[in-house]
Amino acid sequence: MKGTGGMKRNVPIALALVCASPAALAVAVGPARAHSHQGHEMGLQGPALEAARKEGSKQLARGRRLYGKHCASCHGIDGEGQDNWRQRKADGTFPAPPHDEAGHTWHHSDRQIFAYTKFGGQAVAPKSFKSAMPAFGKILGDRDIWAIIAHIKTFWPKALRDKRARGRGNGG
Ligand code: HEC
Repeated sequence: MKGTGGMKRNVPIALALVCASPAALAVAVGPARAHSHQGHEMGLQGPALEAARKEGSKQLARGRRLYGKHCASCHGIDGEGQDNWRQRKADGTFPAPPHDEAGHTWHHSDRQIFAYTKFGGQAVAPKSFKSAMPAFGKILGDRDIWAIIAHIKTFWPKALRDKRARGRGNGG
């Protein structure tokens, strides 16, 4: 495997295809809510910052618990994914990809990750893609899903999170 171009083409995950139409997704999901309670992003200081931090760590604890319950069986407790996740299985679906640095999740905007989780792979992916990613909209509330996303971000090294925060990869 030489060059990142080849690597990219070997990532057959539906969201990679969805990236082409973030506008459509935005319509489906609506404007991003103030789901991030990290104070520094809101320019808070003093007690307000303390409160935001507390809220953030509560959200993370909830995210960790819910991730363990609903996502880890497929995506791995540390986001490591399933073996050979780039190889289509006999039934036409793919194994669950990693959510850590090795995977593709971090390439997508928060909103796209949210939509994929809430509505499931089949609703978000092109019709030709056979998805094995369940929809969680009936099991998890929006706040639950945002908490899980906050937890997934703890799988990413700081450099990667900073890169996304600057806009690279966070726009789809
Ligand atoms: C039954 C196994 C299974 C469970 C449980 C599961 N997933 Fe998935 N997930 C998959 C598979 C398989 C894919 C690969 C794409 C597809 O088939 O649509 C995937 C893809 C994804 C993607 C897209 C990743 C990418 O690289 O583009 C996200 C985001 C995601 N899952 C989030 C979650 C979250 C969050 C949970 C828990 C709430 C969860 N998944 C639970 C099987 C699962």
